[in-house]
Amino acid sequence: MHVVDVFRVLIRWLHLVAAVAWVGGSLFYLVALGPAVKEAGGSLKAALGLVDRRFRDLVQLSIVTLLLTGAVMTFDRLQLEPGPAYVATLGVKIALAVWMFLLAQDLASRGRRRLIERRLDPATRDAGGSRGWSWLILALGMVVLLLSDLLKVIGPAAG
Ligand code: HEM
Repeated sequence: MHVVDVFRVLIRWLHLVAAVAWVGGSLFYLVALGPAVKEAGGSLKAALGLVDRRFRDLVQLSIVTLLLTGAVMTFDRLQLEPGPAYVATLGVKIALAVWMFLLAQDLASRGRRRLIERRLDPATRDAGGSRGWSWLILALGMVVLLLSDLLKVIGPAAG
């Protein structure tokens, strides 16, 4: 196996792991963890705050990884002149991914703000809306995964 191919496999693997961590993590958080903690209530709610912070860090790491590996793969695939359908699909995918990144930044800054407010006044309640954003990010992530699959099918054979 040529060293360039080893590099390609590593980049694609890192991209996939970052995608699984963010989209898969969001699915678990919204469908299993969040509702279970809400149902159980009590001390688990405090633990959810800790989970929130750690998951936010994981999402930031995933975003940086997706951007860097995505840029490398984009350059690698486009030099094979894959045709207008591929370029258009990749363009839509990147636009949706950037929208996800912006929503995640907004959520992260809300989370940090809420943490500070809670320290100042423990009675501070969640202003709501964050869950809606989280579901939107998950839905966009599902569409981005579908487009990534489509890219593989309509894309050029491996370089
Ligand atoms: C939420 C963000 C993203 C997710 C969930 C995601 C997910 C994926 C997945 C699952 C694949 C298939 C990997 C494989 O074949 O093993 C892929 C491929 C790819 N991604 Fe992403 N990605 C994201 C963001 C990006 C960004 C921001 C870029 C560009 C800067 C990008 C560029 C690419 C390219 C060029 C491919 C290769 C497609 C092909 O097979 O020709 N991705 N992505």
